[in-house]
Amino acid sequence: MALKSPRASAAAPLAELSEAELLERARAQPVPAHVAIIMDGNGRWATRRGLPRVAGHREGVKAARTIVRAADALGLRYLTLYAFSTENWSRPENEVTLLMRLLEESVLRELPELMERNARLKVIGRTRGVPLPVRRGIDRVVGATAANTGLTVQMAFNYGGRDELLDAFRALARRVQAGELAPEDISEADVSHALYTADAPDPDLLIRTSGEMRISNFLLWQIAYTELWVTPTLWPDFGGADLYRGVLDFQGRTRRFGGV
Ligand code: IPE
Ligand code: IPE
Ligand code: MG
Repeated sequence: MALKSPRASAAAPLAELSEAELLERARAQPVPAHVAIIMDGNGRWATRRGLPRVAGHREGVKAARTIVRAADALGLRYLTLYAFSTENWSRPENEVTLLMRLLEESVLRELPELMERNARLKVIGRTRGVPLPVRRGIDRVVGATAANTGLTVQMAFNYGGRDELLDAFRALARRVQAGELAPEDISEADVSHALYTADAPDPDLLIRTSGEMRISNFLLWQIAYTELWVTPTLWPDFGGADLYRGVLDFQGRTRRFGGV
């Protein structure tokens, strides 16, 4: 769908608007169904304050909680948060250990609020590669919220876009080998359904914080026509007002999907 709005007149005063005003403006227009976020900049946030990187991750968890609330207030159907990539295992052991513990603790802590919001937690990534206690804790929350029908929060955890494609290709190859599918009949829908994100629509908007202009192995297939929005704000400083500014920017764009 092509989205048009009076961008020039709406964009100018955005910096001066309160979070509530930004929310009101964003809700007055069609809201994207799916926003994905590369939550980047925790380490730099901490380093700039003379703190250890892990202090940035602690603040990053708080920002994630704020954004789940803001996404719910906005009426998003899907929010995908990149929490830990397959490449992040290359970080120092103490940082990885703390990240695992933080993710487990914070997910468990969110369960009552997710239930209250009728929100569902899904995990995308190679969960088998995650330490067992962490996996158990997260599975509990995924199971408890599975029947909720409101916002779906997809947490990308031990996630790699290329791994996801490899897993999908292997699943499709097995179907071909079993005689269920002919190679020439493999469709885009077959590939989409073989991905970790099988049931979710492709993201309409991808946000990256901390100013980096790269994808870092995130949702490679799904973002073919996703709108990108990069903000210099570091993830721990990212709040509801920032999410709404990104969505308002998105609402002012024309999506052409290769057409005119
Ligand atoms: C994002 O912040 C969190 C994860 C990747 C887990 P970083 O830890 O990448 O922070 P920077 O990019 O080093 O500032
Ligand atoms: C992307 O951030 C991964 C997550 C936010 C979980 P990184 O900090 O790992 O990405 P690079 O290394 O800057 O590309
Ligand atoms: Mg980073």
